[in-house]
Amino acid sequence: VDKGIDLRKEIKKLCKEKNAVILGHFYQADEIQEIADFIGDSLALAQWAAKTSADIIVMCGVHFMGETAKILCPDKKVLIPDLNAGCSLADSCPADEFARFVNEHPGYKVISYVNTSAAVKAVTDVVVTSTNARQIVESFPKDQKLIFGPDKNLGNYINSITGRDMLLWNGACHVHEKFSVEKILELKKQYPDAQVLVHPECKGAVAKLADKVASTAGLLKFAMQSDNKNFIVATESGILYEMKKKCPGKNFIPAPPEDSTCACNECNFMRLNTLEKLYNTLKFEWPEVQVDQEIAEKAIKPIEKMLEISA
Ligand code: 13P
Ligand code: SF4
Repeated sequence: VDKGIDLRKEIKKLCKEKNAVILGHFYQADEIQEIADFIGDSLALAQWAAKTSADIIVMCGVHFMGETAKILCPDKKVLIPDLNAGCSLADSCPADEFARFVNEHPGYKVISYVNTSAAVKAVTDVVVTSTNARQIVESFPKDQKLIFGPDKNLGNYINSITGRDMLLWNGACHVHEKFSVEKILELKKQYPDAQVLVHPECKGAVAKLADKVASTAGLLKFAMQSDNKNFIVATESGILYEMKKKCPGKNFIPAPPEDSTCACNECNFMRLNTLEKLYNTLKFEWPEVQVDQEIAEKAIKPIEKMLEISA
């Protein structure tokens, strides 16, 4: 990239010329959230992709988010600033192993978290995000046997609030698993009135400390509606950008990971996207997210089912 170029201005110009829309997840770096046309949680990003009239979708998030958009909009060009933006949770569920697990359990319906590859979604009955997981699980009759993958923490949490006994895949997110109960308790001593906001991908022991367990959008909404001033936030710290913006005067404290010498409450995959890469992606229309057609035709069904139930 030419030094001295005004990246923000050029990105806006390219979007206009090419009828492109920039969608960003709440975990993106501030500079990306600032320039995105829309920011949201995984569900909102899928809903946006499904209804946009843009010719190009630039998904500033991780690969499974781009795949979901591409599956929903096969005729649009879906770009992602860095193809290496994967997800440890999606990687904890290899498609061939998951398909074998499903085959070994006839009679079970399969619920998959959106943080999965398209190939996993292709052997799934309905996709969920953390916003609609409870609603979708409860849409099944109580005696329906269910498989839930890949996040064991979210699965355990949903089991605990619905009284279900879903069979869980043993997967987890490397960011959310690292929050420390002890460090949150220490912070609570410093800010005794603080409300603790926890994403359900965190371990159960962390969720037990929560005043609210919810998706990124759910935690944001809770903070906006609460009369409290201080909040301890146990999820990827990118969400603080929107929390601070939507709640001026309130104080958001990122929950520290076990090892406070690392920035482990940042998702290294999410943070691969930069303004410079976003500019190059728009300019060269590369890298593009592609999904095998046969897989996409199967994966669209559980995604559409999710959108239908959460409409
Ligand atoms: P949300 O759907 O809550 O935004 O979560 C996405 C994600 O990747 C959590 O780690
Ligand atoms: Fe995946 Fe965890 Fe990053 Fe979310 S925070 S994208 S679950 S690795």
